[in-house]
Amino acid sequence: MSILAELKSRLSGPLGKLVEDPAELLEMVRPSQDPKFGDYQANFAMPLGKQLGRPPRDVAAEIVAGLDVGDLCEPPEIAGPGFINLRVKDDRLVDRLAEAAVDPRLGVPEVESPRRFVIDFSAPNVAKPMHVGHIRSTVIGDALCRLFRFLGHEVTSDNHIGDWGTQFGMILYGYRNFRDPSAYDAAPVAELARLYRLVRQLMDYHEGKAQLPQLGERLEQREAALADQLAAAGDTPDKKTAKALRKAENDLTESRKEIEQLEAKLAAVEADPVLSKMAIEHAGIGEAVLAETAKLHAGDAENRRLWEEFLPHCLDEINRVYGRLNVTFDHTLGESFYQDRLAATVDDLIKRGIATTSDGAICVFLEGQNVPMLIRKQDGAFLYATTDLATLGYRMETFQPDAILYVVDHRQAMHFEHLFATARLMGMEGVRLEHVSFGTVLGGDGRPFKTRSGDTVGLEGLLDEAVRRAATIVAENDDAKPKGAELSAEERAAIAERVGIAALKYADLSQNRTSDYVFSYDKMLAMNGNTATYMQYAYARVRSIFAKGDVDVEALRAAPPAIDLSTPAERALGLAILRFGEALDLAALDYRPNQLTAYLFDLAACYSTFFEQCPVLKAPTDALRQSRLLLCDLTARVIRKGLELLGIEVVERM
Ligand code: ARG
Repeated sequence: MSILAELKSRLSGPLGKLVEDPAELLEMVRPSQDPKFGDYQANFAMPLGKQLGRPPRDVAAEIVAGLDVGDLCEPPEIAGPGFINLRVKDDRLVDRLAEAAVDPRLGVPEVESPRRFVIDFSAPNVAKPMHVGHIRSTVIGDALCRLFRFLGHEVTSDNHIGDWGTQFGMILYGYRNFRDPSAYDAAPVAELARLYRLVRQLMDYHEGKAQLPQLGERLEQREAALADQLAAAGDTPDKKTAKALRKAENDLTESRKEIEQLEAKLAAVEADPVLSKMAIEHAGIGEAVLAETAKLHAGDAENRRLWEEFLPHCLDEINRVYGRLNVTFDHTLGESFYQDRLAATVDDLIKRGIATTSDGAICVFLEGQNVPMLIRKQDGAFLYATTDLATLGYRMETFQPDAILYVVDHRQAMHFEHLFATARLMGMEGVRLEHVSFGTVLGGDGRPFKTRSGDTVGLEGLLDEAVRRAATIVAENDDAKPKGAELSAEERAAIAERVGIAALKYADLSQNRTSDYVFSYDKMLAMNGNTATYMQYAYARVRSIFAKGDVDVEALRAAPPAIDLSTPAERALGLAILRFGEALDLAALDYRPNQLTAYLFDLAACYSTFFEQCPVLKAPTDALRQSRLLLCDLTARVIRKGLELLGIEVVERM
C-alpha cells in the first residue's frame, strides 16, 4: 500500500466515529505543498467542524487523539485553523526504499481486487490516412491499458475501426474509375491512398460548388448585421455592445476566410486540366459513392470481394503507424464485424419495448434527452449507434467486463450518453461504462489544427516532422559534448526517432485530457519544462553517472546499501520515489495520464536539487556514495517505468 493509502486507512478509524462515510473526507488527505507542513496534510477538519457545529481545531484534536500512526509517523501536528500535518518517520522511508530497491515493481503493489476492463481506443476510419485527431485517442488509450495492466487489472484492448463506412464507397468508386493498375500492383497501400484523396477532392469540389452560394448569402447577412450593430452602437458602446460587436466582426472574418479557402480549393481544381476534366465528367460523384457503399452493405458480391481485397492493405497502413507509435491491440474488431448482428439488435430492442417506430424510423426515446437515439433509418439503413449497441452486447457476452472505457473525442459525448442510457434500459447494470473524452488539438491560432489550406493534418507527417526536429536537437547535443561527439549517424537516427515520437506522445499525455491544447513542436521538444525530451534527458543523465563512475549497478541492486536520508534534498528525493504508486492510483482514478507526467516532472525536479546539493561519485564517505547511487538508480528506474506506462521509451544516451 502507498504511504498515502496507509494514512487514509489509519485515519478512517477515528473519522468513522464522527461521520458515517468518511470516503469523501479522506480525499482531502494529500501530499503537503511545503515540507514545513509535513509530508502529508489532512484538511478535512474544517468542513467537518462546520458540519458538526464544532471548532475545527477541536475536531482535529479528537481525530489525532484517536489516530494510531506511531509506527509510521512523527507525532501529528495541528496547524492553523485545524490542518493535520503528518511527517513520515525517516526510518520508515528508509525501509520502504530498501523494499523498492529489490522489487521489480518498485514497491507498487498490485490491486487486491482486480477488475476486468475493455478499453476501446484509437478506432480510426480506415481507408483514409490517419490524421492529427487520432493522436489523442491512440496515446491516451494505450497509456490507460499499460497503467491498468501494471496495477494488476485485466485489460482487453479493442480497436473498433471504422471499416464499413462511406470511405469504402469512395475507394470502390476510385478503383473502378481512376485506378492505375501498375501502381496498384506495385504499392497497393499508396495507390488506395491516392484514390481516396482524389475522390475526396472531387467530392469536395462538387460539394463546395453547391455550398458557395449559401456561404455568400451568410457573408452578406453578417455584413449587414455588423453594419446595423455599428450604427446602433454609436461612438461609445457599452461593454456588452462592444463584446457583441467583436463577435460580429469575428463571425465576419470567419465567413470571409471560409469563402477564401473554398474558392482557393475550387480554383486549384479548375486550374489543373486533368482534374477539372475529371470533375466535369464525374459531376454525380457524391451520389455514386453513396450507391457503391449501399451496394457493399446490401451484399453485392463484387463490391464485397473488392472490400475484402482492400481491407488488409488498409490494415497494413494503420499498423505501420502503430508500429512507429509502439501501440498494440488485443483485438481489432471493426464495425464490419458486427454487421450481421444489427438487425437482431434492433428487433430485440423493439420486442422489449425499448425502441419504437417514429416516422418509419426506429428510435430509442430516452428520459431527459431532447433527441432520440436513431437506430434504423426509414430506408432500412443502420447507424453508428446500432453498431455500438451490437458491439456492447458482444463485449458483454465475450469478455464479461466490469468496465468498458471508450477513449473518444468529446464531440461524441451525446452519442455515448445515449448509448449508456440505452444499455441501462437493457438491464446492463453491472458494467461501468465510461466515455473517457478528450479535447481538441489546436493550431497556433487557437482553432482546430489544420494545414494552411484548411485541410486536416496527416498523422504521419506530424511524426516525421517531430523526428526531423528531434534529429537536430540530438545532433546539437552530441556535438556540444565536452570530449566531442559520441554517437554514430545510425545511433543518432535511432535516438531521434525515439525522442521525436516520445515528444509528441508526452505533449499530449501531459495535458489535462478534457481540455483543448495547442500543438507546438518547439514546446514539445523543449529541453526544459514538462516534456518527454526533458524526462529522457534526466534519465540519460542519471545513467551517465553509472557509466562515469564505472559502477556495477547489478551488484548495487543485488545487495542494496543502507540508505541515508540525512539532508533535506536526499529525504525529499526518497519520498518522491516512494510516491510513484500514489501517482499511478491518481492517474487511474479518473483516467488521467497527466497525473503521472506531473509526478515524473516533480521527481525530476527533486533529483535536480539532490544532484546540485549532494555529490554522488565524490561523496565524502563510501557508505554515502553507495546510498546516493542507490537513490540515483531508483530515480532512473521510476522514470523509466513511469515513461514505459505512458508508452514512451527511454534512451540510455542522448
Ligand atoms: N470510428 C469512430 C470515429 O472515427 C470512433 C469509434 C469509437 N468507438 C466506438 N465504439 N464508437 O469517430
